[in-house]
Amino acid sequence: MLHVPVLLEESLGFLLHDLSGTYLDLTFGRGSHSQEILNRISPHGRLHAVDRDIEAVSFGEDNITDPRFSIYHSNYSEIDSLFPQQKFDGVLLDLGTCSTHLDDPDRGFSFQRDGLLDMRMDTSKGFSAAEWLNTASEKEISDILYQYGDERASRKIARAIVDFRAMRPFKTTIELTKVIETVLKRTGKTHPATKSFQAIRIHINQELHHLRIMLSKLHNALKVGGIVVIISFHSLEDRIVKNFFKPEIAQLPKDIPINTSVKETYKSIKKKIKPSSNEIKMNPRSRSAVMRVFSKL
Ligand SMILES: C[S@@+](CC[C@H](N)C(=O)[O-])C[C@H]1O[C@@H](n2cnc3c(N)ncnc32)[C@H](O)[C@@H]1O
Repeated sequence: MLHVPVLLEESLGFLLHDLSGTYLDLTFGRGSHSQEILNRISPHGRLHAVDRDIEAVSFGEDNITDPRFSIYHSNYSEIDSLFPQQKFDGVLLDLGTCSTHLDDPDRGFSFQRDGLLDMRMDTSKGFSAAEWLNTASEKEISDILYQYGDERASRKIARAIVDFRAMRPFKTTIELTKVIETVLKRTGKTHPATKSFQAIRIHINQELHHLRIMLSKLHNALKVGGIVVIISFHSLEDRIVKNFFKPEIAQLPKDIPINTSVKETYKSIKKKIKPSSNEIKMNPRSRSAVMRVFSKL
């Protein structure tokens, strides 16, 4: 199944304030937002797109041949080295994973489909979820499940993971799903492995770290009056976005050397936009989306 874009009308309604402008889609995915941007901008407009997932980039190269479009394989936290001189009229971020990630068992994101337990968006870097689970301490696993998944049974699950790997190392998604099912019984609609898989994915891809770095570099990549549209899918991401754009200070990460003498200010254009009940009915994945819109002063 292809990725169904979330908040498409709402996001592009704010983003495309100058149809001859130059835009940046930092989370190309399967290009549903990008394709619609290209449909709407004028022959003078331009669109650059980025994704850390090489399969997403290949999809863009193979399917979008529009001369106004370019795509790059990169992490969005490297926006400064990717576009050192460029100033954009608008930047779009549709955070998280694509449904194509979840649908492909070989990527290891789904607790329902058996495949290698990988979960990396960029498979050329870092370590897989299986490698991490086979080597991390019980405490580290428990902390990650709690912090990034809000998993109340984090300690019990971490213990069960360590017990399993003492017999044999984790290789597949279903092995992890079954271990979690020994600790947590299914009660409501949500599968007991949902929170743990989300937490491990966020950790393996260092999602919050890259989000903070990218936000701190965004100012340089925008024209004055340039628009940033950010769609988040869980409260950890949304809190980082909301706090970063507080007008008094850009909340820069402590560990990153950035020239804080530059007064970085934005205006909040829209505080919190949620998908309509109709959109949620058509695309249940959209139910947790929150969109925020800012402009550079
Ligand atoms: C929700 S999908 C975007 C869907 C897209 N808007 C569409 O219409 O098809 C998020 C995408 O962002 C990518 N992504 C996530 N974190 C990233 C990062 N730090 N740098 C670059 N791409 C990232 C993922 O690989 C995924 O393809």
